[in-house]
Amino acid sequence: MPLVNTVEMLKAARDGKYCVGAFNVVDYLSIEAVVKAAENRQSPAIIQASSGTIKRFGVKTLVEMTRTAAAKSTVPLSLHLDHGTDCKVLSEAIAAGFNSVMIDASAHPFEKNIEITAGVVREAHARGVSVEGEIGVVAGVEDDIVAAHDASLYTTPEQAIEFKEKTGIDFLAAAIGTAHGVYKVEPKLNIDTLRQIRAQTDYLLVVHGGTGLADCVVRELVEAGANKFNVSTMVKQVYNDALFEYISNNREEYNILKTLDYAFKSITAMLETYMVLLGSAGRA
Ligand code: 13P
Repeated sequence: MPLVNTVEMLKAARDGKYCVGAFNVVDYLSIEAVVKAAENRQSPAIIQASSGTIKRFGVKTLVEMTRTAAAKSTVPLSLHLDHGTDCKVLSEAIAAGFNSVMIDASAHPFEKNIEITAGVVREAHARGVSVEGEIGVVAGVEDDIVAAHDASLYTTPEQAIEFKEKTGIDFLAAAIGTAHGVYKVEPKLNIDTLRQIRAQTDYLLVVHGGTGLADCVVRELVEAGANKFNVSTMVKQVYNDALFEYISNNREEYNILKTLDYAFKSITAMLETYMVLLGSAGRA
């Protein structure tokens, strides 16, 4: 199936009261793992590329890789640019065939964030590409974007609604206390913010910092109205750990295809558990 527009996938999730996993990929193997897991679970899924992956492959190659991996799939899949901060890269991704992009101007003051985000929305919408915007700061590290934990600003529902209305974004990431990377302390989440936005609007809502949240918290977030759930660190962790485990246990095995196959199966299994947890399994 050709890739689909992320916004359509998320509208279906909102209407069906489930959430779609957006999984950060680092290479072709991890892209294929998302496709395989989505097929196995008959789930929609978002393949997400961060600035590091984009730097490694370039937008055109990533589009080609994703289209190739998704070509034989029967489930809705899309390619999304995660945390775009560079307008040049965003323009390239929009032109190259990404189905959606995130403009992350959250480091700027509110009005400037609105101005930058609205500009990207105009450009993306002209080419049928949907846009995610962020209001408030999601703490932690996503590739080269670093935000201090104590600088994590919780978004108020009022600010979030004003931001969405003034920018015209298609989906909204509001800072509710989640953070990128591994949680070193129990995060203090403000899930009520999501509930309040959901009660007042039909917005498509995004949760960042998926790695390390307890299953019960993930379920609560989905019930509160989350439609897109980002997972990055867990993909890299499972990938690394699987390679390490296989190599440690098979020191005389030099058929690297076997090593990679072990990692592929491990990543796929982990992604499937998220699809079940998020309620997207069986919704393709
Ligand atoms: P984690 O690395 O905590 O899973 O966060 C992913 C994310 O929000 C990507 O934007």
